[in-house]
Amino acid sequence: MIIVTGGAGFIGSNFIHTWLANSDEPVINLDKLTYAGNPENLSIFQSDSRYTLVRGDIGDRQLVGSLLATHQPRAVINFAAESHVDRSIHGPDEFITTNINGTFHLLESTRGFWDTLNQEAKQNFRFLHVSTDEVYGSLNPDDPPFRETNPYEPNSPYAASKAASDHLVRAWHHTYGLPVLTTNCSNNYGPYHFPEKLIPLVILNALAGKALPIYGDGQQVRDWLYVRDHARAIMRVLERGQVGQTYNIGGNQEKTNLSVVQTICAHLDQLRPKPDQSSYRDQITFVQDRPGHDRRYAIDANKIKHELGWEPEETFESGLKQTIQWYLDNPQWVAHVTSGEYRQWVQKQYG
Ligand code: NAD
Ligand code: DAU
Repeated sequence: MIIVTGGAGFIGSNFIHTWLANSDEPVINLDKLTYAGNPENLSIFQSDSRYTLVRGDIGDRQLVGSLLATHQPRAVINFAAESHVDRSIHGPDEFITTNINGTFHLLESTRGFWDTLNQEAKQNFRFLHVSTDEVYGSLNPDDPPFRETNPYEPNSPYAASKAASDHLVRAWHHTYGLPVLTTNCSNNYGPYHFPEKLIPLVILNALAGKALPIYGDGQQVRDWLYVRDHARAIMRVLERGQVGQTYNIGGNQEKTNLSVVQTICAHLDQLRPKPDQSSYRDQITFVQDRPGHDRRYAIDANKIKHELGWEPEETFESGLKQTIQWYLDNPQWVAHVTSGEYRQWVQKQYG
């Protein structure tokens, strides 16, 4: 039995799909079901005895303590977070509450449970914290990619809150001996990606005939990884990672934002040509830049490759094609997530 937090979100739900495709070990998904949490992402497991959804907050010590005591998991994998940089700029409060205080409470609840275990179970237990490459700050064009030894230089409220959570996880290992693992991953994309993030936003805006907003000059660089490759990496770190270590995870697929958007347009021109034969590229619109926008992220994933034998299976081309096809094939999912709160966010961010 494992407990996953934030499993109704983008990466967590893809992780649960990957887990249950490869294992019969049951999963409990503890999720607060914020705007980003969508039980529909896991609806195929509704009547699967291996899967249980519990609605709750990682900061609720009573709930988490009782879940741990009742189910005696061998691992907790922490995906739960506020994850969108632009939202952290408009309103950082929730980021501090969940990403910092929430992780602190989750660590304390886990430590309380871990202390009750016998020596063998204690040694085998793992707390895996899922984090981001944004903790390392921004790279110049000629800088080498981020390694695990890079100093932390977070620039956005989101990145700072994740950096703080990483430090807490580290301290709970060094001070209390909690068997932790931390992963720092680059930008993910794939199915179930909430359309506030660049790739799903652009796919859906293109199909709706809306503007494709590019912040600033569009020359910012991100290192893209297909989400199911990330899920496999987390499974590998859980099984083989060395306690107390951190592992960078990335796809070695650096792209400028403008080229990502142009590639999406080119695929859509083929898969869903516009009636007037014009290109979706015509919808590209340069808009005001994100404040404090990090220029470049890139991951050196050699440690996880050489020590744990993980490598991505998808290239950006192959992963992006599957992703676009998934959005074309799932209009119902799209219709459900683009109502209500989503519309208010789009209005606030893009006017
Ligand atoms: P997401 O926003 O799609 O999902 C977050 C999930 O956490 C949602 O289901 C939400 O309901 C849940 N949640 C939020 N606050 C909670 C709380 N207090 N208690 C319990 N559940 C709560 O995020 P994501 O993109 O799937 O990211 C998952 C994790 O991976 C995050 O920790 C993020 O920092 C990290 N990460 C994301 C990326 C990326 O490209 N998306 C890359 C690297 C790392
Ligand atoms: O690097 C990992 C991080 O990747 C994760 O930790 C975050 O949770 C995740 O949201 C993501 O952060 P980014 O800020 O890089 O992702 P986003 O999709 O918001 O933006 C990708 C790039 O595209 C970024 O340079 C900003 C730009 N952008 C984004 C949006 C939403 C635009 O140009 N226009 C847009 O409308």
